This record gives sequence, structure tokens and C-alpha cells, in this order.
Amino acid sequence: MFLIKGLAFIKESWRRVNIAISDKGYIVKIWRSHYTNRYLFSQIDMIYDAKEYLIIPGLIDIHVHFREPGEEYKEDFVSGTKAALASGITIVGDMPNNLRPITTLESFEEKLHVVSKRAYTDFFLYAMLDEPEELSKIFEKFGHIPVKVYLYNKKTLEALIRRDLPSEPIYVFHAEHPDLIADHRKASDAYELNKLRPIKAELEGIDIAIKFAMRNRCHVHITHVTSPEAVAKIVEARRRGLKITCDVAPHHLIFFLEKINPKSPLYKVLPPIREKEVNHRLLRALARGLIDIIASDHAPHSPDEKSCSFSEAPPGIASIQFLLPLLYSISKRMHIDFDLLIKTVSENPARIFRVSKRGKIKVGYYADFAIFDPRYKGTIDPDTFFSKASLTPYNNFVVKGKVIATFLRGKLVYEDGIFLDKMGEYVGNIK
Ligand code: NCD
Repeated sequence: MFLIKGLAFIKESWRRVNIAISDKGYIVKIWRSHYTNRYLFSQIDMIYDAKEYLIIPGLIDIHVHFREPGEEYKEDFVSGTKAALASGITIVGDMPNNLRPITTLESFEEKLHVVSKRAYTDFFLYAMLDEPEELSKIFEKFGHIPVKVYLYNKKTLEALIRRDLPSEPIYVFHAEHPDLIADHRKASDAYELNKLRPIKAELEGIDIAIKFAMRNRCHVHITHVTSPEAVAKIVEARRRGLKITCDVAPHHLIFFLEKINPKSPLYKVLPPIREKEVNHRLLRALARGLIDIIASDHAPHSPDEKSCSFSEAPPGIASIQFLLPLLYSISKRMHIDFDLLIKTVSENPARIFRVSKRGKIKVGYYADFAIFDPRYKGTIDPDTFFSKASLTPYNNFVVKGKVIATFLRGKLVYEDGIFLDKMGEYVGNIK
């Protein structure tokens, strides 16, 4: 048995505890650290003392693009999951917009086979809504895994109006109405991109998701919301009894048009960066607890691809390696409760995406932890990146807090820049 001691986030508060962990990686007992439990202590083989650091539940990032198979030059499962562990993330949900999109049972199985051997974190995978018949085959074999809905595709829009899509999976919408947006290559800077893909497109995209949720009686999740109006629409639909949740990406919390260099391709992302006033109200919605999840939308591109003009650059911002320091910095700078932010990356994603025995430090749950130093202050240094996407808007960005170590199912898998084990497992089977 293994013991970890320190100040841990348990039942919504911070407690100085001992946590005993079984050889299988489960938490078997938690007790206040000033009591000695002689019997348990006699069975302990190893102790990790977190000292002045915080013990946070392992983070669950439900929105990443690791590009494998197909575009490994941008990122692959090894580099992506290593970068995740360095940010205290123990589970990732990988998106299906691979070079060959994951729309069929065959492509899903191939991807699962390839990435399973290469993951340092646990993971689940999405399928893309394209052909309902193929989705059914995936569900039959793997259970009701999450489905990503991009509204750009005609076949997807046709599938959404069918009544026979199963109600059990969670349908995750990239909500930009196809009739209200233009090709991102037409925008020569971030202001133009914001005009070409306005909040109105987001709101009407959410309307499609709401209609779908009503008709099919299923859970829809709106990913990377950018506006408080979107959050209000979602909250209002939830009050009417619909199962609808949402997440926000760190770049929509941290950046706004008036603060960035609008010509820089590093800030090009879909949906786009909005104005200061929108960002300000989005932060207020987050602080009020109206946004369920924060997810990185880690969308890596190679440094070459991001070294061109705004219009030519592919959209996407890589951020996975700094997710926890960014959240801590947001909590300090914007005066948002850090405990609330922790829940948006642990307990809430575990509940909403039905990842069992994760997201909390609790007896019977897996021992997934981020060991976090809240006193650290420094800059994000591209030389320390594990991700291949080394050109990001966060390079040299000042942050507070640093991940010292990460535990996955009771094993110390990352510490101070060094990875100790590659033991990621697929956790996506939902029956
Ligand atoms: C995503 C990517 O690069 O895969 N980019 C992004 O700007 N979010 C694709 C997408 O979700 O549009």
C-alpha cells in the first residue's frame, strides 16, 4: 500500500490528510493527518509527502485534438498525453476530426488500436456524427461513447433531423450555424474573423442543438462557448428541463480583441476571440457557476503552419500543458474562486461524461492527483514543452502556480519534467 499526505481538495474544502492507496490504484482510506492509524501504517510500503503543495483531483480535459492517426507532425498521442500529465491532467477526451475523420466503426477501431499503446494518460475518444448507421455499429461494440457534432457538414445536418439517433450518448456540439459563418481564410485579422463568425452564429447553432435535445430527449453539450448570451440560452433551456451543459476554453477567458495582436496567427481559433466587453461578462458567468466545464480545446499546429499570415494560418490554439497554471492565474487575476475552477476540470467533467470513479478525492475512487505549487510565479517557457506545438500565444506568458507531480491510478507518472511510466488506458466504454 502507498500513502500520500498533504493538503487535499476533498468534499469542496481543503483538508490536511493522509490518503492510503491500494496496489490497484484505488483510494482505500482518508483520515486526518494528526491521527496515526497504526494498523494502516504497518501496511504502507511508500510515503509521498506533498508538504506545502496542494493535492488536487487529476484533471479531466474533455476536448483535445491529438491528431493521431494522420497528422502526427502536429501532435501525437505520446507528445499530447505527456504535455497533459505535465499539467496534472489524467484523462483526456480526443476529438474525431482526424485527417481521416472518425465516422465509421473501422476508423474508430483503428484509432483506438493505434493510440492505446501510446497514451501516458487515460483517455476516451469521440466519434463524429456523419452516418448514423456507422455510429450504431460503434455503439454496439463500444457502448454509447460521446459524439461530436460539427454543423458544417450536410450529412451531419441531415442526421440531426432524424428521430432514430439513440438518446443515450452525449452529443457535443461545435455550435456555429453554417449559414451564418464564412470561410476563416477570408479574414485578415482577428477582428474580421469575429465579424465573419459572429456570436449570432453561435446562438443559432445552439438553437439547433436545443431542438435536437427536445426532439430526441438526449443530453447535448455545447463546447467552447464564447459569449454570456450563449451561456444564458443554455441555462434557460436547462430550466425548462432539457439536459444541456457547456464548457469554455481558456483562450476565451484570457484573451479579448483589444488585448491581443489581431494580425498574429497565434490568436486564430474557431470560434474566434471576442471583444473585451463580451469576455468580461463571460468571466462573470463563469464566476457565478453557470459554466459546467473548462476544457482546453488543445488544437495544435506545427510552428511552420503558424508562421504565416492570419488568413493562411490554420485555426487552433495549443494550451494543454499549462491548463492548471492558467486556471490558477485566472482565479487570482479575475478574483474567481479556485475551488469552483477545480470542479470544472474534475468533478463536473467526470459526472457529465460519465467517467466512473474519477474526478474526486474519495474512498473507492481512483487515486488520480495533480500535486500543485500555488506559490510558484514564472513565465511559460517553450523550451519545457512536451507538445509539438511550440508556437502558442502563451509563450513567455506570466503565470502563477506549477504542477510538480501527477499521479495516475496511484502511480507517480510525472514528476519535475520526468515521466515514470506509460500506462494510459481507454476509459470510454459506456454501456
Ligand atoms: C480545431 C482544430 O484545429 O482541430 N480548431 C479550432 O480552432 N478549434 C477545429 C475546430 O474545432 O474547428
